[in-house]
Amino acid sequence: MSTGRSFYITTPIYYPSDVPHIGHGYTTVAVDALARWHRQAGDDTWMLTGTDEHGQKMLRAASANGVTPQAWVDKLVSEAWFPLLRTLDVANDDFIRTTQERHEAGVKSFVQTLYDRGHIYAGEYEALYCVGCEEFKPDSEILDGTGAFEGLKVCAIHSRPLELLQEKNYFFKLSEFQEPLLRLYAENPDFVRPESARNEVISFVRSGLKDLSISRSAFDWGITVPWDESHVIYVWVDALLNYATAVGYGTDPETFERRWPAYHVVGKDILRFHAVIWPAMLMAAGLDVPRGVFGHGWLLVGGEKMSKSKATGISPSEIIDVFGSDAYRFYFLSAIAFGQDGSFSWEDLAARYQAELANGFGNLASRTIAMIERYFEGIVPPPAEYAEADLAVQKVVADAAVHADAAIERFRIDEAITSIWTIVDALNGYITENEPWALAKDDSRRARLGTVLYTAAEGLRALAVLLSPVTPIAAEKLWVALGAAESLGRLQDQPVREAGGWGVLTPGTSTNGLEPLFPRIDNA
Ligand code: MSP
Repeated sequence: MSTGRSFYITTPIYYPSDVPHIGHGYTTVAVDALARWHRQAGDDTWMLTGTDEHGQKMLRAASANGVTPQAWVDKLVSEAWFPLLRTLDVANDDFIRTTQERHEAGVKSFVQTLYDRGHIYAGEYEALYCVGCEEFKPDSEILDGTGAFEGLKVCAIHSRPLELLQEKNYFFKLSEFQEPLLRLYAENPDFVRPESARNEVISFVRSGLKDLSISRSAFDWGITVPWDESHVIYVWVDALLNYATAVGYGTDPETFERRWPAYHVVGKDILRFHAVIWPAMLMAAGLDVPRGVFGHGWLLVGGEKMSKSKATGISPSEIIDVFGSDAYRFYFLSAIAFGQDGSFSWEDLAARYQAELANGFGNLASRTIAMIERYFEGIVPPPAEYAEADLAVQKVVADAAVHADAAIERFRIDEAITSIWTIVDALNGYITENEPWALAKDDSRRARLGTVLYTAAEGLRALAVLLSPVTPIAAEKLWVALGAAESLGRLQDQPVREAGGWGVLTPGTSTNGLEPLFPRIDNA
């Protein structure tokens, strides 16, 4: 089943020199959950992630380690960044590296197009540069150093001294795009989300845009400027273009036509690059701007933005080794309002694991399957006449599916999970109130027992379909336990926008045993 609708979604491409931490993992699983949802809805979905491998930061890290930059990034990407995707159980369709030929070719052709269209000129430049950000800093992000950095100018984000760079550079006439950008934000209010991000971007653009230096000649770890080999293309221009080159810009026009434009999900630290510079570059080249840019918040650890340089870094595998990838995905995607900052703590993670996943969802699944085994020899019973309580469950399921899909359209994964969880809560309440174990003691109530257990099983069927984008492993185990894999086919083929229908699970289906979905964790 295909809706024919294209849904192309991207993560930022990460600097491989950083060790992957839970902040990177957060963006990646959010994008994966959105992509899985759309894929399961039949949309023509494509999820891209990758690594940003050029620039001074990478060059310096490689020299510090005594290897060539290419050898350095190859090692990091294969040892840390590819494995991260498996750790997080991410089903990306592609992985782009900016050192790949397909990317370099596309970047050159794009920059040449801007040049030919008159959007680039040569000029002199002198400004303060932060290698951590790979950016010439605006005045608002330059601070006076203190302590060891007394007398120096430091970056407000990295708290490290800035470097004064003086070079002949090529410039992109970004200043000419102030009005077109403001028009874009006005005509397409969803271009930047959430609202707080949109407001920040608009006021930044209103305050005036300076032309952007898009080349560097002081080092050569990058893609050369096609008309001047003594320069390499500025790493951010190179990096942003990954979203286009990965789907064939400059190499495969048919694929590009099919996929482009994309939705971009990024941390708010890099919102301006995506919501200002990137659409301006695309307009200058005569291409469609992205469908939208969603800026999410920061993960805070101990009240601070988590980052490697601040030594608060936690690697995703530390969490996943204990709790599993489903719990990681569920926790970050449900506990933090997508778009706002959120604090991570082990206590909160452990508490939610126990309350929501183990006691809420996991127990519901195991006791329902166990009762079908005990009272009906593992065969899903047929429902008899539906009573009010049963119909109420059906309505909760139908509403949850509609609300979850609407929330996903708004990129609010957290709200989607809240809606889906109304099914967990309703079914737990329903089982407590209807006491199947009491019905089972009375032969005359056998038909009623069948209705109650069918209702619980069918509710679980909907839950498996709706939760599969968020907790794919647990959802799959549940699917198999319900016997649905044999009767209904693969879980990932179940149309998620129709998950709220009723009567999908066929009575007579044989269930299979279910190990606890979220086992007890000692000392967590
Ligand atoms: N290479 C650039 C992006 C280029 S995109 C064309 C870059 N890379 S990065 O490795 O620093 O990754 C930044 C992204 O990682 C953030 O935008 C965000 O998605 C994620 N996060 C890094 N730290 C984070 C938190 N503490 N909290 C949430 N997300 C975080 O910038």
